[in-house]
Amino acid sequence: MPGPIAERVVDVVSPRIPRGMDLLDTPLLNKGTAFTEEERTEFGLHGLLPPCVETLEEQVARAYEAYQRKDDDLERHIYLRALQDNNEVLFYRLLLDHIEEMTPIVYTPTVALACQQFSHIYRRPRGMFISYPQRDSIVHLLRSRPNPDVDVIVVTDGERILGIGDQGVGGLGIPIGKLSLYTLIGGIRPERTLPIVLDVGTNNPERLNDPEYLGWRHERITGEDYFAFVEQFVEAVKQELLQTCLQWEDFANAHARPILERYRDQLLTFNDDIQGTAAVALGAILSAVKVTGKNLKDQQIVIFGAGSAAIGVADGLREAMKEEGVSDQEARSRFWLINSKGVLHSDRKDLTPEQMVYAQPENRVARWLGTFNGRVGLADVIGQIEATILVGLSTVGGAFSEAIVREMARKVERPIVFPLSNPTTKSEATAEDLIRWTDGRALVATGSPFAPVNYAGRKIPIAQCNNVYIFPAIGLGVVASRANRVTDQMMLAAARALAQNSPALKNSSAPLLPPLTELRRVAAEIAVAVGLQAEKEGVAAELVEDELHRQVIATQWTPGYPAYSN
Ligand code: NAI
Repeated sequence: MPGPIAERVVDVVSPRIPRGMDLLDTPLLNKGTAFTEEERTEFGLHGLLPPCVETLEEQVARAYEAYQRKDDDLERHIYLRALQDNNEVLFYRLLLDHIEEMTPIVYTPTVALACQQFSHIYRRPRGMFISYPQRDSIVHLLRSRPNPDVDVIVVTDGERILGIGDQGVGGLGIPIGKLSLYTLIGGIRPERTLPIVLDVGTNNPERLNDPEYLGWRHERITGEDYFAFVEQFVEAVKQELLQTCLQWEDFANAHARPILERYRDQLLTFNDDIQGTAAVALGAILSAVKVTGKNLKDQQIVIFGAGSAAIGVADGLREAMKEEGVSDQEARSRFWLINSKGVLHSDRKDLTPEQMVYAQPENRVARWLGTFNGRVGLADVIGQIEATILVGLSTVGGAFSEAIVREMARKVERPIVFPLSNPTTKSEATAEDLIRWTDGRALVATGSPFAPVNYAGRKIPIAQCNNVYIFPAIGLGVVASRANRVTDQMMLAAARALAQNSPALKNSSAPLLPPLTELRRVAAEIAVAVGLQAEKEGVAAELVEDELHRQVIATQWTPGYPAYSN
């Protein structure tokens, strides 16, 4: 691997530059008070701007002051979104300079509130709305996209937004927030990103009864009609934007996997809830396991929740285990997945084929107590086995009780406990409780952000096991390597590259994942690993590592003002 990846200030080669108010109203080109005297003269801006010419740094300072005046996180989110719709370079520079403070505001957890309030805080159009009634003209809709060339689309149908369920058209807040991070961290150029919501209605009565709701006021389209609509959308994307990476986001379980399975071999596409979550959790778990000095194949893994995220995590871990030399059957025997009806076992008739993979033989659990409504639940599993890893992807806040965690910690020296559900209220435990209940021994990563925990005179930083560690890097990797597919092995390569960057490998009391301030550098390294794997599998053109590395650096955009002249 070539040396450290430096930040690069990119000169945007602008298309034809508009004049006067049209220029000031174009967020991708607007510099506001940073337009120079020459530019003001050339583009008819004198009189439209205050006379003082500022630097980007001075603008950032003023914007930050305004940001700090906001009273709550939703107001801060609204402020940042408005800034994005006014001056994208300034928005990204501000975010980059305050990345730790502002990532939770533009993305999780605050973006959940923004989705719930979408119709009330709506200001200006961003992204595309593709509504079911317009299903026969999707190609035409896509032709109206704001910019012709698109590197990454994030699309949702708003049905299963984070942990807060069906938000209908308000779900668009997620693709918008997520693509901001593709740019901020991955360096995907802002004009080459496209957020899309597939508006197939909503079953959320609050939205349907809200007079201000902006979506198609109709119950959700389901079954064959739904899948036919998705097919129409994908066909339109293939026709208009075949080289674009299409990322599926926050689809309901019943749709997420079938869609991924159907299209993953047809175009450049992935589902971040399934594959991205798995990769980041895998990256963090691999580094945690290394900290314990053990192998992954020897772990007993309990996953609380057996939805799309949980299955994705389990699949990634199982693949990585097999690479350590165990058979598929042996790997499966080390997983204990639990959903709202108890532990997955072979006698259950309600399991999907993906869940069935993790069904334990019924006779392995038959004699267990069954303290969960008469069924075998989390407490029973933890009581019976020597669990070394406990992952929460259940949306059940507080599910990792003191008794359960203490029981696990009684049997293992360094329990690995990851409460990954979002938002914070749905986290299966707080970081502080986990540290206290395990006498400071737990290796913890969470889904939502938690402050460092003070314990026995130590300040223990908590890694946030957030997909942001992976998806911007995948985007960067596929764009830079011009890959035409996203394979499971590319996701695994990303997880391994992330694990290699774990601060805990150098210092066992450091967090399992790198700080956000390191993420652009880490994303570039992950992108190289992803591109190399793509090439190895024949889904990207051949490139030597140095060349790929240069390509990644050249692709990674950094916010800065270019000089304009016509
Ligand atoms: P899902 O709705 O598909 O799955 C939830 C699972 O939890 C289901 O299997 C359900 O049966 C189970 N469950 C619900 N109540 C239960 C109970 N009382 N006891 C036992 N099991 C119960 O949701 P999905 O997409 O799998 O996401 C789950 C959580 O993971 C969400 O909170 C989401 O925000 C979070 N997530 C976190 C990510 C991260 O990077 N940290 C990424 C993706 C999802």
